[in-house]
Amino acid sequence: MNILVANTPTDAEEIAYTLIKERVAGKRDFVLGLATGSTPVGMYQMFKRDRLDCSHVTSVNLDEYIGLAPSHPQSYHHFMEEKLFNDIPFKQSHLPHGDAADPEAEAARYEQLVRSIGVDLQLLGIGENGHIAFNEPGTALDAKTHVTELTESTREANRRFFDSIEDVPTQAITMGLDTIMNAREIVLVATGTRKAEAVHHMIESVPTIDWPASILQAHPSVTIVLDAEAASAC
Ligand code: GLP
Repeated sequence: MNILVANTPTDAEEIAYTLIKERVAGKRDFVLGLATGSTPVGMYQMFKRDRLDCSHVTSVNLDEYIGLAPSHPQSYHHFMEEKLFNDIPFKQSHLPHGDAADPEAEAARYEQLVRSIGVDLQLLGIGENGHIAFNEPGTALDAKTHVTELTESTREANRRFFDSIEDVPTQAITMGLDTIMNAREIVLVATGTRKAEAVHHMIESVPTIDWPASILQAHPSVTIVLDAEAASAC
């Protein structure tokens, strides 16, 4: 793992954004894995600030809530449109369909899609319990894209985007740990003290599915970008 620690969240975002920008620039075709949550928002603003040319970039997102149509204001489809896609045109963008009639079949379709196009660089955040995408503690190491139950702590952490806890979906379709590990390169960004314990386990624990992000230690090309607070338990 290549670990970089910046002073502030903005500095960390700028470091990760610059790395992504360098990888994307000058390529004929590029497949960029994108993430949701608060962490990538500052980076997506940097894409817009620089009017980054993504016309040759295909994006694939990690996950989507089950039960929310793409037009739902809290869906990850809507989030991505609002934070990035409405301003920066991509060649193509893919997310799992959370309103599919058969979520298991949709997960299988998405896995096939991600495998067939191959992710050049996957951007990740991390949950307070160490989850990546929606791979909650205990997820199998060889998990492909699948339907998952969200833990109460994850629903609670994401509640701020919804009117009430009852509105937070209980399930999601998520790339699995194996799907994510298949990306050629991974960049994970974590900022703030809320992430410090998960970051400590990700970097310093013996890899364990109790802290799913610790699995990234086994990937050959991972860059972890932290601010001082997120690095404070290491
Ligand atoms: C959700 C997403 C994850 C994200 C996590 C942390 O659970 N599925 O991909 O990393 O939230 O979000 P935040 O960046 O808002 O702390």
